[in-house]
Amino acid sequence: MKRKIAPSLMCSDFLDLRKECDLFKANGIEYLHIDIMDGHYVPNFSLGIDFCRAVSSYTGIPLDIHLMMEDPDRYIGVFSEFEGCTLCVHPETSYQPLRTVQQIQKRGCRAGISLSPSCPLGSAEHLLPYVDLLCIMTVHPGYAGQTIVTGTLKKLEEAARLIEKKGYGAEVEVDGNVSWENLPKMRDAGATVFVAGTSSIFQRGADMEESIRRFREILEA
Ligand code: DX5
Ligand code: ZN
Repeated sequence: MKRKIAPSLMCSDFLDLRKECDLFKANGIEYLHIDIMDGHYVPNFSLGIDFCRAVSSYTGIPLDIHLMMEDPDRYIGVFSEFEGCTLCVHPETSYQPLRTVQQIQKRGCRAGISLSPSCPLGSAEHLLPYVDLLCIMTVHPGYAGQTIVTGTLKKLEEAARLIEKKGYGAEVEVDGNVSWENLPKMRDAGATVFVAGTSSIFQRGADMEESIRRFREILEA
């Protein structure tokens, strides 16, 4: 399966967003990772629906929307307006996670589940046959700039192996501290979608186009 880059736009330089979006388009970026936070499931706020509309209409790149919120069923309708988007929820935030997944797909979107470091793989195994994407978070949800949580790389490997062995179609996404040092390990662990944040392409002071090229090179090595 082709390895894909999903820049995490909460890490953008908002005063330079148009320039960054032009670079994403020019460099074949496959998804735009949009973190939506409600201040309850995670103690933070980040991006919103108008931000999604702006970057989606300007770039035409599919959105990979990461819903870090309680009771996400309330907002599936709102976020399902984006053609070809993925809506990713944390299973513990829904009373009926499988129903949530099916509701997302019924609206024509791809459904993902995201497992924080506090959520064991075993607790979501029954959902894997149904989802289009499984995201393994390697940091605690809610903030960029964190360091990888020990043990999450092994969890990523187990998840990728399980999906491969069972022949499920889900993409395996990794989200959090995807740094130049961690990226090769995450690639070799079997991830196919990489959320790129402050640890790589949004590194302040580095040339973003050069960073995207470097990121792609490591994925293709
Ligand atoms: C954290 C978000 C991530 C984060 C990744 O809750 O899900 O997308 O922004 O950024 P870094 O690379 O800084 O961990
Ligand atoms: Zn995220």
